Amino acid sequence: MLSSRTIEIIKSTVPVLEQHGTAITKRFYQTMFAAHPELLNLFNHANQSQGRQQTALANVVYAAALHIDKLESILPVVKQIAHKHRSLGVTADQYPIVGKYLLGAIKDVLGDAATDDILQAWAEAYGIIAKVFIGVEEGMYEEAEKQDGGWAGFRAFRVARKAAESDVVTSFYLVPADGGAVASFEPGQYISVRLDIPGETNTHIRQYSLSDAPGKPYYRISVKREDALPGKPAGKVSSYLHAQVGEGDVLHLSAPAGEFVLDRADTRPLVLISGGVGLTPMVSMLKAAAAAQPDREIAFIHAARSGDAHALRQEAEEVAASNARVSAHWCYSRPSASDRETGAFHKEGYVDLSWLQQVVPTTEASFYFCGPTPFMKTVYAALRAWGIEEERIRFEFFGPSGSLQEG
Ligand code: HEM
Repeated sequence: MLSSRTIEIIKSTVPVLEQHGTAITKRFYQTMFAAHPELLNLFNHANQSQGRQQTALANVVYAAALHIDKLESILPVVKQIAHKHRSLGVTADQYPIVGKYLLGAIKDVLGDAATDDILQAWAEAYGIIAKVFIGVEEGMYEEAEKQDGGWAGFRAFRVARKAAESDVVTSFYLVPADGGAVASFEPGQYISVRLDIPGETNTHIRQYSLSDAPGKPYYRISVKREDALPGKPAGKVSSYLHAQVGEGDVLHLSAPAGEFVLDRADTRPLVLISGGVGLTPMVSMLKAAAAAQPDREIAFIHAARSGDAHALRQEAEEVAASNARVSAHWCYSRPSASDRETGAFHKEGYVDLSWLQQVVPTTEASFYFCGPTPFMKTVYAALRAWGIEEERIRFEFFGPSGSLQEG
């Protein structure tokens, strides 16, 4: 355990490190990748180049350091990150590397202000935090491997079927290339896909939610093609999957992971709210909940640009049509002329509190949501304004996690 003097140093220097957060993390990644270019195979380059991941890792180290005398209080955060690490294939021997370059970056950026005492205190704290992560992740690797149909690391899957779901979303049905079973998963979980793209120096890894219910002989992912936008290049992986990967091709997957899962013991009415491709874990939850709890009231709410961009609509409508307790509600921000003609949507514009109050059967429900960050902020604020307690609200970020409360 750390001495009280060390804890005191840590706690008094966290604000200084946070103040220099961007400079430290920038230096950290630069020096680490220069010395260990193989780690470029692990990190998401798009997140790196857009600065999205720049501070997440270091911020969690600082947050953990503040709780160093009661690390169990941040265990839920550790577990969520550990799921991501396990899904990526992060190993125990990589922790000292991250520690070395994080400490080095702190030293470089703070200069003389980083005394030996301070650096020593941080080295000790990092060691303790890393040990907690390594322990949790070890348990997760074992768990993934010992499940029926489970495996550790990456396993080859063949694309058994590729199906366009909307003008931007395409599903891939993936079966193990070894002919074996697939491990079950909790609705809401994701897998990582590792890709070697011709012409690229490094491999790319991306996470995709499983979009079908568990219990099938395949995994299904439904991938949005990230087209180029001003200031944002097209998504390398999603473009490659859409344009180049076809039926019969092989992809490498790690076992299902993630903590954003349907609580099976919950019998309250269920409200699933999604924006854009954030509907993928929600469709899995919808199908699983409707099958396992046919008496449960479920409202499936989805916001899309228009009918052309609305993926998996028919699937959700089939569930609603076969169970009177399930309702589906569509909100389009820019409906097409044909959407208007056919009355394909229930609300025009954006999801807001007054519409939620019309379509959600009761405030006594459990709420799950996923979508682009501005959408999630709106939904979160609406639910809180409606008086829904935190405990009944669950959400998932696609990409680096952030806060729903700021700005
Ligand atoms: C992602 C924290 C060690 C590789 C993350 C995230 C956090 C984090 C907060 C973002 C998770 C999310 O957005 O859901 C930490 C902490 C560490 C640590 C506190 C040390 C105690 C490591 C190590 C490696 C690693 C040793 C391997 C070299 C990654 C990768 C990602 C990630 C590849 C995904 C980021 C991306 O693809 O852009 N980590 N991490 N981390 N971590 Fe760690």
